[in-house]
Amino acid sequence: MKKLFILLSCCIFTAGAYAQTLVNETEIGDAETAISQAQIAIIPEPVSLMKKAGTFTLPANISIQAAKGEGLTQSINFLSERITTATGKFVSTVSNANHPTIKLILNTQNDPQLGLEGYKLNVNTTQIVITANKPAGIFWGVQSLIQLFPPAIESKELVENVKWKLPCVDVIDYPKLGWRGLMFDVARHFFTKEEVKQFIDNMVRYKFNLLHFHLTDDEGWRIEIKGLPKLTEVGAWSVKKTGTFGDFIPPTADEPRTYGGFYTQEDIKELVQYAQDRFVNIMPEIDVPGHSLAAIAAYPELSCTPDAVNYKVRSGEKIMDWSRGAPPLALVDNTLCPANEKVYVFLDSVITQVAKLFPFEYIHMGGDEAPHNFWEKNDQVKALMQREGLKTIPQVQAYFEKRIEQIVVSKGKKFMAWDEILEGGASPTASVMSWRGLKYGIQASKDKHNVVMSPTEFAYLDYMQADLITEPKVYASLRLNKTYQFNPLPAGADPKFIIGAQANLWTEQIFNFRQVQYMVWPRAFAISESIWSPLEKKNWTSFIDRTEAHFKRLDFAEVKYSPAIYDPIFTVKRSADKQLMIELTPEIDGLDIYYSFDNSMPDRFYPKYASALTPPKDANMLRVITYRGKQAVGRLISISIAELQKRAR
Ligand code: ACM
Repeated sequence: MKKLFILLSCCIFTAGAYAQTLVNETEIGDAETAISQAQIAIIPEPVSLMKKAGTFTLPANISIQAAKGEGLTQSINFLSERITTATGKFVSTVSNANHPTIKLILNTQNDPQLGLEGYKLNVNTTQIVITANKPAGIFWGVQSLIQLFPPAIESKELVENVKWKLPCVDVIDYPKLGWRGLMFDVARHFFTKEEVKQFIDNMVRYKFNLLHFHLTDDEGWRIEIKGLPKLTEVGAWSVKKTGTFGDFIPPTADEPRTYGGFYTQEDIKELVQYAQDRFVNIMPEIDVPGHSLAAIAAYPELSCTPDAVNYKVRSGEKIMDWSRGAPPLALVDNTLCPANEKVYVFLDSVITQVAKLFPFEYIHMGGDEAPHNFWEKNDQVKALMQREGLKTIPQVQAYFEKRIEQIVVSKGKKFMAWDEILEGGASPTASVMSWRGLKYGIQASKDKHNVVMSPTEFAYLDYMQADLITEPKVYASLRLNKTYQFNPLPAGADPKFIIGAQANLWTEQIFNFRQVQYMVWPRAFAISESIWSPLEKKNWTSFIDRTEAHFKRLDFAEVKYSPAIYDPIFTVKRSADKQLMIELTPEIDGLDIYYSFDNSMPDRFYPKYASALTPPKDANMLRVITYRGKQAVGRLISISIAELQKRAR
């Protein structure tokens, strides 16, 4: 309780300081407009933002006015819930107020500049007005408006002693791309319906409008399919393992298979509605023909391999050999059999129900990383190749993908899959999600496929965002600054066919929802700005200032984020005389790094890092901490000299 009091006091102090800055802004002249502009921290950066003189003070009684029956109920509810919860002020939505505080207006004449999701936001000293062509635009305008409030507006409980003032601004804003997604893998680890709702809540703050729901994989089948009960009775459950996924000891037959879960069709309907109320579409992914061990454990007849009767849902044990790269060699056959008609009947049932549950126009059918080594040896597959005149195994996968696309299209949906489907020759109507770099997306756009860009290099949120010493081990790294360099419309692509972009959160190494948040934020700030804002508006220094302002907002919202930008990057080298040299580089400007080699915990009175360090002969530990002025901002990081020596080898 005491801790809670201290925490709240700190938050209130911070919020008060923020409001104070805004008060001062009204008193200062034009000469300091640049400073006041810097206090405004909207992510993603709007197309145009003009700071005006003065501030708007939230009155005790607030009325929100919007014509009823125009699809604005969600925006009104969202805004009034936020204001009431954090400020405790009274919000009325009586539409005939003489002088409404906040007006939400749908244009009667289409404003072509704003498109389907753009908005104009005017904050004046006495009134706030948001206009848009469509309800979605109003909703995104509301998100920007909330970001103009002091950070305490994100609190889940009443915050006292805040000056609820907003800077006066004129904003004109609209997105660069209409598909702004985050992929959430609920197959590797299951996340509850309530957690998925929280994921959506956090997305919409940053104007993401698409949740790519990765529902099936080797580790779990997460959606109820009527008539195929074993998918969820068997396929949704594995043995609970804790540690480093991928290296787990194979489970024994007597270990309980009670770890996992699935969404009933009623759950899915609820999530779709929840998302729609926040202008988010959900795109389901059923990942086939690879990544299908959970389905095969439920229905072994879907495999070409007779031994599949013994297969179990994966519990993090090794099932692939990646040593020769992709596609991997499968140690167990986790593919659906392309030569078995039962597979197409099975997928018809699945896709029929999925198509009814999700109103979104696309269904994603996976297609990635399908190992072919079991197919190469299989007589049924050989017979299929002969019958269909298929010369290579990639052509076998292409045959499978085309049949699946026909099923998807027959249910009135569009087919999307990962970029591997290009390999054996994709159908011209297939849409492609480019993940193995930008190059497949560039080529596919030139070949007139619709493309969503989500390259590993910039957009894989499962990769480590800081040193291995602070992160669960993943085979690759992706720092915030690299994420911020994501350009979903690269040179060489045909922009007409790039329909969107997204970041992907795979969850092999993510065992709980706090870690989900830690991996998503702040990198998804960078992704949202890369997809929404004009390229010329992107600016790393401004982005970091705004990111730090949003850390305060996420503190109030009780959302976890990674503070990795404050930690130094360790680089090791050897000098000419083979001495270890350790370089420490901050990811952002304005930080000082202090260190010790004597095992004690450094603070700002310790040696300050200036150039590459060589550890004293007998030292066995380097400890570092980062400060901004007198304020410790980084985590205290301890790294053994043995580890650094190993890295230098
Ligand atoms: C993928 O990362 N396997 C699409």
